[in-house]
Parts: sequence; structure tokens; C-alpha cells
Amino acid sequence: MKPKVLVTRRLFDEVVVRLSEHFEVDYHDDDDALSAMELTARLADKNGVMLVLTDKLDAQILAGAPHLKVACNVAVGYNNIDVPACTARGVMATNTPGVLNDTTADMVWALLMASARRVVAADKWTRDGQWQAWRFLDKWLGQDVHHATVGILGMGRIGQAIAKRARGFDMRVIYHNRTPQPDVKDATWVEKDVLFAEADFVVVMVPYSPATHHLIGTAELAQMKPTAHLINVARGGVVDDVALIAALKNRQISGAGLDVFEGEPALNPNFFELDNVTLTPHIGSSTRATRMAMAMCAADNLIAALSGQTPPNLLNPETIKDSPVGADVTPSRRAILLFGHGAKNPEWAAPFVAIRGAILARDSSALVESGFLELMRPTFAEAVDRLVAQGAGEITVVPIFMAAGSHINKDLPLLAAAAMDQHQGVAIKLAPPVGAETSVLNAMADYAMTVKAAG
Ligand code: DGY
Repeated sequence: MKPKVLVTRRLFDEVVVRLSEHFEVDYHDDDDALSAMELTARLADKNGVMLVLTDKLDAQILAGAPHLKVACNVAVGYNNIDVPACTARGVMATNTPGVLNDTTADMVWALLMASARRVVAADKWTRDGQWQAWRFLDKWLGQDVHHATVGILGMGRIGQAIAKRARGFDMRVIYHNRTPQPDVKDATWVEKDVLFAEADFVVVMVPYSPATHHLIGTAELAQMKPTAHLINVARGGVVDDVALIAALKNRQISGAGLDVFEGEPALNPNFFELDNVTLTPHIGSSTRATRMAMAMCAADNLIAALSGQTPPNLLNPETIKDSPVGADVTPSRRAILLFGHGAKNPEWAAPFVAIRGAILARDSSALVESGFLELMRPTFAEAVDRLVAQGAGEITVVPIFMAAGSHINKDLPLLAAAAMDQHQGVAIKLAPPVGAETSVLNAMADYAMTVKAAG
């Protein structure tokens, strides 16, 4: 008997034909979403599901799907899926990274150019018959894109594709990530506040999670230049739309190009009153070729998962029984948080990058994060949030390069207690500080293995 799968939305026929060769397919051949109740009912006897970013798969729906083995998102972002809840039930979750990088970067470029040169507003004005005379100092004086500074918040694969395009425009590229990316060339890692202050175009490319909710709000917008533009093709909720509308209305920033919104498709109607914002309906990956590649990629994941192989884009490898991390970490994974001074200065942050790299080289699925004390503001809680969002249930904090008398050694137990209050059920332990640079790499790599083996 073939495994049973649900496809929650109308897709290309070719994809459904391919799935039908392997599965008994329950195809919701419709552009409208299934309600939560319909989704639950249709998942009751399914082994796999292929879903899109507006389908929420949470613990409650999973509880009604006892036979489900795999959930394949047809999207790279997966904030619609509760991955820890999937892991707890042994359900594999997958996404579609890679295939949409260039298309999404193209869309960033389309919005960036449109915002800088007011293309959409000028089109409307021309169509409305308002062009009566050509003027040298007309109302359409825009911003140059060439030789300007683009600031990319979240330098992942799509961020790198954006940076590549920026170089063709002779732009200066700055970026901010949790940790500097040593492999990224011709782009400079900067602190977040430096990025907001210096970029002519701030491009948001971070995934949505509780940790990135309203990452850009009133304070961040206030740091931007009055001539700057904000471009968001990542996820709604990362930007505080109410704060953005105020900043656009007061001309605190020059413009915005937005493909994603809080509560989309129900946009804040105040956006419609503004002539300095370009709005598109979440179409970052929407070309025929790319949507086909995404659907086929999700199909590959589904087919692999239900034929006993590891799906190529597995988000929760601990669901695989013989995974190097599978045996000892399900359902709540162990994680390491490297904590110390350093984010202000990329050179100080470098050892964290190296240590993290050394651990991941030994175990690519280990959960390792860095948190820093920057200008007296510990990012401890944010780092813990990120680990918990990835499924961590026990976090060992390793203070790095901390002077014996550093006040942070005293503060750490308090920070750990506050974070445990915040995340009920997550255990946070403090390891002895690691201080000698020469031995840190090996010590940490061994430490990671010891932590894992101890399970
Ligand atoms: C994604 O894949 O996450 C995109 O937002 C879909 O267009």
C-alpha cells in the first residue's frame, strides 16, 4: 500500500503527477487555504504533508495526526511550522533552501530600485494625467543606488546574492549577523546600530521567530538617515509596521519597499495613504521557474522521507534514529551557548566564530550559539531565545575569555535564572570559564562531544 500524503494547496500538475507515482495523494486542488479544522481532519490518516507558508502546523494539529512522519514546507522560511513540536512527535520537518536565493535577491533589487527612484508613484502620477510639463527640479528627485551603501541585516544565502548584485552597482556592502561570516568577501560586518546609521538602503533578510519579533521598531528607524530606504522581503513581524508607518509619514526615512507585512494579507490600511512606500503581495519567490523548483524540492524531501532516506533539507535531524545526535537529544536537544565580550569588535568576536566552527565541523547538527556583552547590554536572553527556537531543552553556558574578576561572572547566574523563568522547562547550566586562547578550540570541540555522549 502506498503511503498517504496531503498536498494543502494547488501546485503545478507536474509535481502532483510525480507525487502520485509514490503516494496516495489527497490533493486540495484550490488556491484557498484549508481551515485548521479541515487540515486536522485531512491529516488524521496521512503519513506526509506538503504545505505552504500560510498553513500553520502547530502542536494541536500535530496531536490529531498520529501517523504523520514528515511535513514538507514549500518555502525556505518555516515559522508556520512548530519545529520543536514536530521533533517531540518524531515528525521530520523540511524546507526549500537554495532554489529561491537569486529570485528573492532579484525582488529585493526590484523594490530597492523602485523605492529609490519612486517608480511606482511616478507611474501612477503619469497614468493619472498629471504630467503637464517637464521640470529640471521636479518632484521626482530620488536617491542614487550606485555607489551608495547597502546594509544587509541577516547575511545568509539570500543576503549573499543581494551583496553580489550590489557589487555590480559599485555599492559599499555592510552587514550584520549574529556572528561575522569569514567566507563573505567584499562585505564588512558591523554592529546593528552602525548598519542602521550608515546604510542608504537597509535590507531585512532575517527569518521570523520570537527573537526577531519587531527587531526593527521606533528606535532602529530613528537611527536611519532621513534619505534612507528600508526593504523587507523576509517576513512580516520582523519590522514593527506601526512604527514604520510613522517613520514614513514623518519623513524620518525616505521610503520603503515591502513584500511582507504583519498579519498579511490584511495590511495596516495606513500604508495605503503613503506615497513613499512600494507594496507587493509576498511575491519574493514568485517566478514560474522558482515556484516549480520549490515545489519539486519539497517533493524530493517528501519522497526521501517516506522511503526511509534522510530528506535533503531536514530541519530537525534528531528525528532520525541513527543520526549522530539522534540517540541522546530527543525530544529536547542539548545546546552550547558561548558567552563573552566581543560583538563590538569583529576581531574579538573571531574566536567565537572559530570555536563554533570547530564544534560544527565535529558535529554539524550541534546547537551552538554566541551571546555577547555589548556596551553593557548582555545579549544572553536573545541567544537563549534563538537556541530554544531551534529546539534546545538544556543549554550549557560557557563563559569565554572572561577575566576572573569580570562582573559578568557574577551576573551570569542571574541571567541564567531570568532566562529559565522565561522558558519554563529549559535547563540552563553554567560551565567553568574557558580562558586560554590556545586550548580553547580543542577544549570546546571535546566539550561538545562530551556533552553529547553524556546523554
Ligand atoms: C519563502 O520561501 O519563505 C518565501 O517567503 C516564499 O515566497
